[in-house]
Amino acid sequence: MKYLSLLLCLLFPLLLRAQGGMWVPLSLEKNNEKEMKSLGLKIKADDLFNNEKPSIKDAICQFDGGCTGEMISPEGLLLTNHHCGFDAIQQLSTLEKNYVDNGYWAKNRSEELPAEGVTAMFVIRMEDITAMALRDVQEGMAERDRQAQIDKNLQQIKVNTKKEAWQDILFRAFYNGNQYYMFITATYKDVRLVGTPPASIGKFGSDTDNWVWPRHTGDFSMFRVYADKDNKPAAYSPNNVPFKPKHFLPISVDGIKEGDFTLVYGFPGRTDEYLPASAISLTERAIDPLRIDIRDRALKIIDGYMRKDPDVKISYIAQYSYIANGWKKWQGEVLGLRKSKAVEQKKAYEAEFTNRVENNIDWKYRYGNVLPRLNEVYAQIEPYRIAAENYAETFQRNNQLLSLAAAYNPLLEMVDQGKLDEFEKKKPEYREKLAAYFRDYRPHVDQAVFANLAERYANTVKAEWGADLLKEAANKAGGYDALTKKLVYNSVFSSKNRLDSMLNLPAQAFTEGMRKDPAFAFWRSLQDNYSKNLQPKLAELTPQLTLLQRQYMDAQMKVFREKRFFPDANSTLRVTYGKVRGYEPRDAVQYGYQTDLDGVMEKYVPGDYEFDLPARLLELWKNKDYGQYSTPDGRLPVAFIATNHTTGGNSGSPALDAKGNLIGLNFDRVWEGTMSDLNYDPAICRNIMVDARYILFIIDKYAGAGHLLQEMKIVKGKKRG
Ligand code: ARG
Ligand code: ASP
Repeated sequence: MKYLSLLLCLLFPLLLRAQGGMWVPLSLEKNNEKEMKSLGLKIKADDLFNNEKPSIKDAICQFDGGCTGEMISPEGLLLTNHHCGFDAIQQLSTLEKNYVDNGYWAKNRSEELPAEGVTAMFVIRMEDITAMALRDVQEGMAERDRQAQIDKNLQQIKVNTKKEAWQDILFRAFYNGNQYYMFITATYKDVRLVGTPPASIGKFGSDTDNWVWPRHTGDFSMFRVYADKDNKPAAYSPNNVPFKPKHFLPISVDGIKEGDFTLVYGFPGRTDEYLPASAISLTERAIDPLRIDIRDRALKIIDGYMRKDPDVKISYIAQYSYIANGWKKWQGEVLGLRKSKAVEQKKAYEAEFTNRVENNIDWKYRYGNVLPRLNEVYAQIEPYRIAAENYAETFQRNNQLLSLAAAYNPLLEMVDQGKLDEFEKKKPEYREKLAAYFRDYRPHVDQAVFANLAERYANTVKAEWGADLLKEAANKAGGYDALTKKLVYNSVFSSKNRLDSMLNLPAQAFTEGMRKDPAFAFWRSLQDNYSKNLQPKLAELTPQLTLLQRQYMDAQMKVFREKRFFPDANSTLRVTYGKVRGYEPRDAVQYGYQTDLDGVMEKYVPGDYEFDLPARLLELWKNKDYGQYSTPDGRLPVAFIATNHTTGGNSGSPALDAKGNLIGLNFDRVWEGTMSDLNYDPAICRNIMVDARYILFIIDKYAGAGHLLQEMKIVKGKKRG
């Protein structure tokens, strides 16, 4: 009996998820409309998404490949997070024109700054193409044959699909490959910076406050999408005109209260909610701690240089934030997985699964082996996965020199394979990137990280996975510092001029130069070693996991009929909804649902690296000059939380009210809920949004850019239902 109740306790959250999920907009009417209405939605599912006529989805775009943005004016004005626009803001800044520190506001269209390379992708149409995609796919097919058949089917669909010349077709697998969807998209490439608050507002609290509630960050920036004269995507041109979206979001300044309906519409990147306990355990025990340790070292070193040197600070600030973001999230994730007993919960769920499967002859035949096999393969792959992650974090994600050298390998291969035309065609692409890359590259910073991480790698992997190779090289050079100095300073990959000259050489001379380069040669030897000693096992086991996970997903959906299954996030357009709500992370600890400007002032530390504030904001606060953005009791709201199930990629997503007006801008999740990508728990998982009133206040009162409000549609007063 005691066991049973414990089992039920553990099972409850997994079986009866009251809320949560990132839903496919195409099937909202079927799957979600009733629930959304019961939570307070006042518009129809059809207003949110429609393939045939304009709907709210036409205001939502994927911003720069990894975030979300939305249209807030009929003239292409785009709202997203400060941290989503940060790369662009940083690249447009210099120590003289420092938009990171001082902010920027274009006074008119001619002052809007082209953000090179930034894109805005809209979904024109989506379709469920599962039946066609899986045609002639048989159970028991080898994974490679299955994929080949699917690719063939998709190719056929592509040929048969009507689309305009400027549109693209994307295919995406859902439910681990049990379903397929097609997306017709349009990607706009002329995107310009309109305005950003200074980092002291847009990034207030920086890494200390990142992933934490209560939060006081004005995490937003604004861009404008430009199109050619026919409103179609076009490369940057001074002749382009503001894009006219089919829909843009009105902004409500009516405010929110606890219990209000909210909906977040955007492009969540990746979740893994249906993995077996063995996979969660691997992440919790080994993968996350490994990543944290590596980034801990890299961050300490970079931070040391950034604090000493303003030049390093502005060059590395975006990169630092990117590395720190994962580093901190994984820490929260490990804590959350432990605290929510995620592994035990999953094991209890698996026990119930097995029980049901054992009692059904058909299921037993089809699914009886799936979980035991998954566990076996996870046990086999574990050391290889850990080493591969170690390799990627050490030599790719936290090492600029070797990453750049690796990025040039395809050029070398083109020449080796005699594809000289392709080589010549590709070169300009590489050349174009040099200026931006080297503007922010500081060899001494990269070298210091490299030395530390290389030594760590040598001491944490097996001899044949690169440890021997590294140790030998370090011995010969006189230590890791000497080794990495030699590699960095003698390589063309740490100097713009030398790399540029090498790119100008004829094909044969280019490849000779590459082969002679110490960094490239070193990367090659590491990579050869990886390909020989690690890759084969991964290549053998990974497809097995893919197959088993697909079967397990299918099995879960059949066996737990009472449970609702949303597909894991896969960077496609999704809807998640919930209510504005505080939470109780621990016994007797309660978090309110909203923060305000007084709270910003409580955190203010003059001159601090993370908690300084601009004088103008202090002045507005002292005078309580909040205009129409104030609450009835005279406060200025800054951020709020709700039960929307979001993940990375949802940043910049609009939070909508029951009528489809924008009330906030999603940018983060709370510390206790960061494990939501693996084990969502509606009791403590909350998303964090900047309040629309704070955004408008900063634009209007702080920046004096009130002219921008004229093109927006501000909803106020009676219109609220
Ligand atoms: N944690 C948020 C997200 O995952 C915000 C990150 C930006 N802020 C930062 N300090 N790195 O993107
Ligand atoms: N901050 C994340 C993003 O950039 C959102 C999240 O992970 O909650 O998408």
